[in-house]
Amino acid sequence: MKNIILIGFMGVGKGSVAREMIKHSEYMAIDTDDVIESIQNKKIKAIFEDDGEKYFRDLEKKVAKWLQNSVKNTLISTGGGFYKQKNLKKIGVVVLLDSPFDEILKRIKEHPNAVKKLKKRPLLADLKKAKELYDERRPEYLAIADVVVDVTRKSAEDCSKEILKKVEKYV
Ligand code: S3P
Repeated sequence: MKNIILIGFMGVGKGSVAREMIKHSEYMAIDTDDVIESIQNKKIKAIFEDDGEKYFRDLEKKVAKWLQNSVKNTLISTGGGFYKQKNLKKIGVVVLLDSPFDEILKRIKEHPNAVKKLKKRPLLADLKKAKELYDERRPEYLAIADVVVDVTRKSAEDCSKEILKKVEKYV
């Protein structure tokens, strides 16, 4: 089995979908942000504040190399900027969770942990800038993805089923 990499904008639901997918498949799962927090023993927010975004991006690069060389049969959920890794396609099949910006914001705001979800994401602090980032990234997400799934107002379970079906021919 090839790795499956979930990419997409902050708050689109990559983590929830990954957790759902492992219930219905043989895959194990990891999250690139979790790996970074673990090796640094620090939250992403604190890494951005103390060490800066460039430091964080270098850590993402290190994680990407490790994934390519050492990780197999795994479902990998990623931070919203991880798709820029040059070796992304060598890691596995790339699946984009796609949704309009407004729907993503709505999803975050309607979540029971909305405040926490907004707070932990430094790049969502300024919503105007976040929208600009979304507009800049969306065509790049679409260009790199092997599979695109529109997750708008769908349950994690439905998204999970749709992805597992669509990736069959790649894995
Ligand atoms: C980022 C997304 C975050 C996290 C970091 C940077 C981004 O992950 O990696 O704050 O550049 O879009 P989520 O997509 O899980 O929020």
